[in-house]
Amino acid sequence: MSFPSVRMRRLRTTIALREITNEVELNPTDLVYPIFVDESAKNPLPIRSMPGYYRLPLNQVVKEARQTLEQGVKSIILFGVPSKKDELGSEAFSENGIVQRAIRNLKKEFGDTLVVISDVCLCEYTTHGHCGIVKDGKIQNDLTLKVLQKVAISHAKAGADMVAPSAMMDGQVRLIREGLDDTGYEQTAILAYSAKFASSFYGPFREAVESTPQFGNRKTYQLNYRNSREALREMELDLDEGADILMVKPAIAYLDIIHAAKAKFNVPLAAYNVSGEYAMLKAAAQNGWIDERVSIYETLIGIKRAGADLIITYFAKDVKSWLNTT
Ligand code: PBG
Repeated sequence: MSFPSVRMRRLRTTIALREITNEVELNPTDLVYPIFVDESAKNPLPIRSMPGYYRLPLNQVVKEARQTLEQGVKSIILFGVPSKKDELGSEAFSENGIVQRAIRNLKKEFGDTLVVISDVCLCEYTTHGHCGIVKDGKIQNDLTLKVLQKVAISHAKAGADMVAPSAMMDGQVRLIREGLDDTGYEQTAILAYSAKFASSFYGPFREAVESTPQFGNRKTYQLNYRNSREALREMELDLDEGADILMVKPAIAYLDIIHAAKAKFNVPLAAYNVSGEYAMLKAAAQNGWIDERVSIYETLIGIKRAGADLIITYFAKDVKSWLNTT
């Protein structure tokens, strides 16, 4: 049967008809809000390329998380900006590191009502800005694994519910799982940044946390953005190494990867709507070129429709202002 008996417009006639035929819903609990905590900051520091978004001093993190919870968002992911960096990124696993302190404060205040995820990487902590240990001008895989393991354990010890390794070193999920299990943190989950592409959309984030590589680029460890089969292989390997949740990053230019991963794996799937994606929408909206609320909603619905169960997004904090736009 087709036209004239079939009329696709019938179910689009009213708002209520459209609502009851929605195929995809977005809920605040689908979102994870990133928080950048800056050891040197005295006040929230605006990030030039991320309008409306700030690096926060430690004493503002609890307040920020409270506002996030009030929006119905139950989860945050923490990134640290340490006051001192070194070659090895040793602040990343210090018991009194900025992220470890932030985790303890959040857990003390909110207990189990807030899911605290911590980013596990070295780039914010190293003077060279790479995600791993550098020797002879090269990023050393296996040496880095030992450090990442220590970082993850220090976060678990501080109370993180979930650690999120993002360095794209081979074997990082396995080593972290083993490290956590050996130290009594077998309940700490791993959100693996499995399919993390070497993307230009991380620019604003790198400006924000001062993690731009001082030489070369990240292409020897992050994925080539031309490759989807390779991305699925990364995810398969991480699952085998013990990942509880898999992630695709960035999101908007990688919806095909999200879609394929959803069909292939039976674990929750996350997508990271990254800083450059935030910056694009904000910039166009600020120029009056697109409608801010609707374009945010439409973008995040698209990521969800592609198959993401969870979306890490800088838009999460004011979700009530744009959710359920008709
Ligand atoms: C690396 C890391 C990056 C992001 C989070 N953790 C990217 C990178 O510099 O390679 C990007 C997040 C964003 O752009 O929003 N540890």
